[in-house]
Amino acid sequence: MQHWHILGAGAIGGLFANLLQTAGTPCTLLLRTDDPDLAVGTAALTLRRGDQQQTCRFSVSASSDNIPISHLLVCTKAQDIVAAIAGVAHRLAPGAVVVLLANGMGYQQQVRARWPQLDCFSGSTTEGAFREGRRAICHAGQGSTLIGQPGRVAAPDWFRTWLALPARCAWSADIDTVLWRKLAINCAINPVTALHRCRNGELAQRPQLAALVGELCAEISAIGIAAGQQRAVSNLRQQVMAVIAATADNRSSMLQDVLAGRATEIDYLTGYLLARGREHGVPAPRNAALLAAVQAVHADNLGA
Ligand SMILES: NC(=O)c1ccc[n+]([C@@H]2O[C@H](COP(=O)([O-])OP(=O)(O)OC[C@H]3O[C@@H](n4cnc5c(N)ncnc54)[C@H](OP(=O)(O)O)[C@@H]3O)[C@@H](O)[C@H]2O)c1
Repeated sequence: MQHWHILGAGAIGGLFANLLQTAGTPCTLLLRTDDPDLAVGTAALTLRRGDQQQTCRFSVSASSDNIPISHLLVCTKAQDIVAAIAGVAHRLAPGAVVVLLANGMGYQQQVRARWPQLDCFSGSTTEGAFREGRRAICHAGQGSTLIGQPGRVAAPDWFRTWLALPARCAWSADIDTVLWRKLAINCAINPVTALHRCRNGELAQRPQLAALVGELCAEISAIGIAAGQQRAVSNLRQQVMAVIAATADNRSSMLQDVLAGRATEIDYLTGYLLARGREHGVPAPRNAALLAAVQAVHADNLGA
C-alpha cells in the first residue's frame, strides 16, 4: 500500500492529506522540528466545508527523522520548496515519487537539477482552502487538480490512488501547458491585486486596472509564444477576464501574503516569466515594474 508523506501541511497540504486518508491511503505529516505535535506523536486536523466538519488524525514525523519516504507530496509555498525538500532529502531513496503541488514555475527545474535521482511530478490545483487555525482548514471552494510529468503521456501506476480521491483529480499528458497557463493567469492578476490591495473583481471594474491587465496580458502572451507556449497563452486576456469574473470576491493569495507581511511567490510567477522573456529577447516593462513594486512592498514590510 502507498504511504504518502506531506511536506507543507498548510491549507493545501492539509486538504490533500485529508483527501488521501479519507480514500484509505495512510498519510504522515512532516513537521518542523519545533512543532509541539511531534511530542504527541499524532496530529488531529479539522477540515470544514460550510457547516460540515471532519477531523482526521495523522501520524507525524520531523523532517530530520530517518524513516524512508516512498511517496512525497510537497505543498509549501513555491519559495520554500527547495529548502523543504533539502530537509528530507536523506529520507528519499532513488526513484522515490515526489509530487510538487504549488503555484508558480522554476522550482520544478531546480528540484530536478538538484535531485535527478527522484521521480518528480508536477501538479496544479484550483481547489480553494485556507487555514482557520494551526490544524484547522476551511475547504472554501471545490476545484480540480491536474498532475503530470513533462514528456510522460500515460499516468504511472501510483496515480490510481489519486483517481480514488473524493475530489476531481486527473492525469495531464501536457502538464507544461497546464503550469504555463496557470502562471500566465496568475501573473496578470495576483501582482496587480497585491499592489492595489483590491479583490479580483476590481480588476474588471476599475478602467485603469482593466487597461493594465490588458497590457500585462499582451506582454505575457508575447513571452509565452517566444517560449513555445502558444497553447497556454492563446486568448489569454479572455481567460484572465473569465477568472476575474469567476473569482470577483476573492482576495488573491499574493494580496493575502502582502496584507499579512509574508513573502510572496512573485519570484516564481512574474520573476520566472521575466527570466523567460530575457532568454528570448522579449521585453516586458509592465511586468518588470510590477515585480519591482511587489518586491519593494515586501522589503518595506521586513523593514517596518
Ligand atoms: N490555499 C489555496 O487555496 C491554494 C489554491 C491553489 C494553489 N495554492 C498553492 O499551494 C501552495 C501552498 O499554499 P497554501 O495556501 O497551502 O500555503 P500555507 O497554508 O502557507 O501552507 C504552506 C505550509 O508549508 C509549511 N512549510 C514551509 N516550509 C516548510 C518546511 N521546511 N518544513 C515543513 N513545512 C514547511 C508551512 O509551515 P509554516 O506555517 O510553519 O511556515 C505551511 O504549513 C502555494 O504555492 C499556493 O499558491 C494554494
